[in-house]
Order: sequence, then structure tokens, then C-alpha cells
Amino acid sequence: MSYDMYMLALAALGVVVLFFFFLDLIWSILQLSRALLAPFFIPNEETSLVKKYGQWALVTGSTDGVGRAYAFELAERGINVVLVSRNEEKLRNTAGEIERQCSVKTKIIVADFSHGSKAVEKVKEECGKLPIDILVNNVGKQYEYPMYLGEVPEKELADIITINVGAVTLMTRAFIDDMKERGRGAIVNVSSGSELQPLPLMTVYGATKAYIKSFTAALRYEYANAGITIQHLSPMFINTKMNAFSNRLQMSSTLVPDAKSYARYAVSTLGKMDESTGYWSHGIQYFFASIPPVWIRMYIGGQMNKTLRQDYFTEKGIKSK
Ligand SMILES: NC(=O)c1ccc[n+]([C@@H]2O[C@H](COP(=O)([O-])OP(=O)(O)OC[C@H]3O[C@@H](n4cnc5c(N)ncnc54)[C@H](OP(=O)(O)O)[C@@H]3O)[C@@H](O)[C@H]2O)c1
Repeated sequence: MSYDMYMLALAALGVVVLFFFFLDLIWSILQLSRALLAPFFIPNEETSLVKKYGQWALVTGSTDGVGRAYAFELAERGINVVLVSRNEEKLRNTAGEIERQCSVKTKIIVADFSHGSKAVEKVKEECGKLPIDILVNNVGKQYEYPMYLGEVPEKELADIITINVGAVTLMTRAFIDDMKERGRGAIVNVSSGSELQPLPLMTVYGATKAYIKSFTAALRYEYANAGITIQHLSPMFINTKMNAFSNRLQMSSTLVPDAKSYARYAVSTLGKMDESTGYWSHGIQYFFASIPPVWIRMYIGGQMNKTLRQDYFTEKGIKSK
């Protein structure tokens, strides 16, 4: 091939890549604009979540952070909620608060998702005939602080995989066919911006979130004609106890919202956006984070985690390793 032909082929390839990049970008902007503007311009289309999906939601990991705030947001929209976490007292307190503030019904289920299919069977059994119309697969486990693989206790690694991958998969399988039979329902799978690239020092956590992204997209294709909304949420940092390893992530800001602000926005995207970060400023972060090639993103992610690891050591007064 002559030099000119080679350059022409390269230029054509560049045009194709740019075309798909901008197509993707324009599609995201259109989806977001539609979701935000529809209530003003097509008010008839605005139906309540109860009308659209049904009366009961189940939120996993619902006594703290995002899950708790998400459960409150659903309840404020008139939806009854099943709360699932490990600690009965926290569950009772959260359920009591929701019932008092939102006048909806609640049900609590004590289950530890690190027990895999046993926990999922327990949840399914305790739900009995209750129709779960909205399933929020929120529960997730992260490292205690950014670590090298060999430093993470074996049990913790196994739990991260069982909870982040296993619970999302098995809970979805447990409830999706009932939704299909009813011809309506919603499944929200909470991933993370960590899915964007391999994430050094949170290697296993990042990989489990990449799984959720892939799982959710393929599932949406499989059940495209079943009347079920299958949403993939990929938040960036939120101020919750999951990030207690760094003080800088324990201060709410525009870039790092508190769980309540995050959940309010995230719930408003349900039924409107199949793929979302769930928060406006996270959308901007996600967009810019997606631009560089994967190896640059991974490098930046690794450097960021080295800084957060140092934060942890400094706060604990440990000499850095
Ligand atoms: N925070 C962030 O910056 C961030 C960013 C991106 C994505 N996310 C994702 O968002 C989701 C929620 O995170 P979060 O920050 O809200 O977490 P969080 O504040 O640590 O809350 C976790 C919730 O899950 C429950 N839980 C923990 N382990 C459990 C288990 N084995 N079985 C059952 N329940 C369990 C906890 O209650 P008990 O301890 O009482 O069981 C609690 O209610 C996760 O999937 C996370 O990966 C978070």
C-alpha cells in the first residue's frame, strides 16, 4: 500500500471513530434533555411510579447511604418498600422513620448477601406473594481502603464478589420472571464510575462493577419486549460510609453529593434513562472521564487511589507502606 493510501485509510478510520463517539454523545445529551424537559412539555406522559410499575419496591442495602436514601425517595412517591440489610435494629428504625414520614407500608427482611444464594432464597421466601414491582440492587461492598490485591483479606475478596456480582445476578433472576408475567416492573442495578476502566488498588471492586455494566446491558436486550425498565446507574463518589477511608470524600460538595441529594436525582431518572450516573454533576464527570484512552484513565485511577490510600494512612496515623 502506498503512503497516501495508508494515510487515507487512517483518516477514514478516524472519521468512523469520531462519528460513533459523537453519535454516542449526542444520544446521551438527547436522553438527558428529554428526561429533564418532558415534565414541562409533555405533561401527559408523566405518570407516577406507582401507576407505571406498581406499589411495592425492594431495596437491598437499605439502612445506610444510597439504599436508605433511595428507599425514602420511593416512599415519598407513594411506594411501599421492602428493606433488606443485615442489622435488624437498623432495619426497624429505618422502616419506622419511613412509615412515619411517608405514610406507606414497609416490610423488613434481615439477610446477609455475603451468604450468596441462601440469602436470596430467604428474601424471596419472605416476600412470599408480595409483588416486587421495583427491584433496586443497591447493596455493594468495597475495600476498607485502597489496597494491593495481596493485602486484601481473602474473605473480603470473596465477599465483594459474592455481594457485588452474586446478589445483583441472583436477586434479578429471583424477581424478573414475575415482572415479565405482570408485563411491567423496574430493575435498578447500582454500579459505579469504577466500571469505566480497570481500577488499580480497587481491582476487584472495579471488576465487579464492570460486570454489573455488562450484565445490565445484556439483560435489557434479553427482556426488551417484557415491559420491564432495566436501569444501569453508575455513580461517581457519594458521601457515604463506604468512603470512610478518606476525609476528603466525607465532605459533601457539588462533585461528591450526600446520599439524599444523589437519590432524589437518581429516582427522577427512573423510567426516563436506561443508563445514567444518577446525578447531574456525576454525568459531567463521567463524560470527561470517558474521553481519554483506557490506559490513561487507568493510570489516573491508580494515582487517585494511591492518594486516597495515603489519606487513610495519615488519618490512622500509620506509616505509609
Ligand atoms: N458511596 C460511593 O461513593 C459510591 C460510588 C459509586 C457506587 N456506589 C455503590 O452504591 C451502592 C451503595 O453504596 P453506599 O455508599 O450507599 O454503601 P454504604 O453506605 O456502605 O451502605 C451499605 C448498605 O448495605 C448494607 N449491607 C452491607 N453489607 C451487606 C450485606 N452483606 N448484606 C446485606 N446488606 C448489606 C448496609 O447495612 P448493614 O451494614 O446494616 O447490613 C447498608 O445499609 C453500592 O453498590 C456501591 O458500590 C457507591
